[in-house]
Amino acid sequence: MPRDQTSHLERTLFEQSAIRTRVAEMGQEITDDLNGGALSVITVLQGGILFMADLIREINLPIQIDSISVASYHGGTVSSGDVTFHQTRMPAVEGRDVLILDDILDTGRTLAAIRRKLEAECSPRSVRSAVLLSKKVERAVEVEADYVGFEVGNEFVVGYGLDYQGEYRNLPMIGVLKPEYILH
Ligand code: IMP
Ligand code: MG
Repeated sequence: MPRDQTSHLERTLFEQSAIRTRVAEMGQEITDDLNGGALSVITVLQGGILFMADLIREINLPIQIDSISVASYHGGTVSSGDVTFHQTRMPAVEGRDVLILDDILDTGRTLAAIRRKLEAECSPRSVRSAVLLSKKVERAVEVEADYVGFEVGNEFVVGYGLDYQGEYRNLPMIGVLKPEYILH
């Protein structure tokens, strides 16, 4: 198996430059919308790390950052349905406007579970969400993101934070793996 991860891609969906341009647009939109209160940006580990790092540098407002650790895939390519919270301490966001970040919105379970727990336990002033990608699929729960970078079809994608079995997160582009790199 070649160690050059780019060669594992069958197709590139979004080049690094396209992602950079879109993230900058999203940052501008968020800056315009959320300039009223104290803003906390909370990313979903691990997939949201790259999106967070790039997006917050495009938000021209005072912000605090935090993270939430959850799992729903458990290593495969299909959501298992239940969302497990790994951390014991929830972010301190009382009275603050919260922007949850994730790499991709698929079934919606992750975003819905995080939003519900934040609202129930953390007394935020408001909760919004931004995802780099939104899969064009029927959601398992009723949830949509307030900010969406790109829409994608119903296929498994990797890169720019998105993993397959923990790898490919550091690919600068987003693409689809060749079938021979997916274990069956
Ligand atoms: P949801 O809870 O089904 O909306 O799934 C969201 C989570 O599943 C994201 O945080 C991703 O980590 C993961 N996920 C969903 N689709 C993909 C994909 O195509 N590639 C990699 N990870 C994915
Ligand atoms: Mg993931």
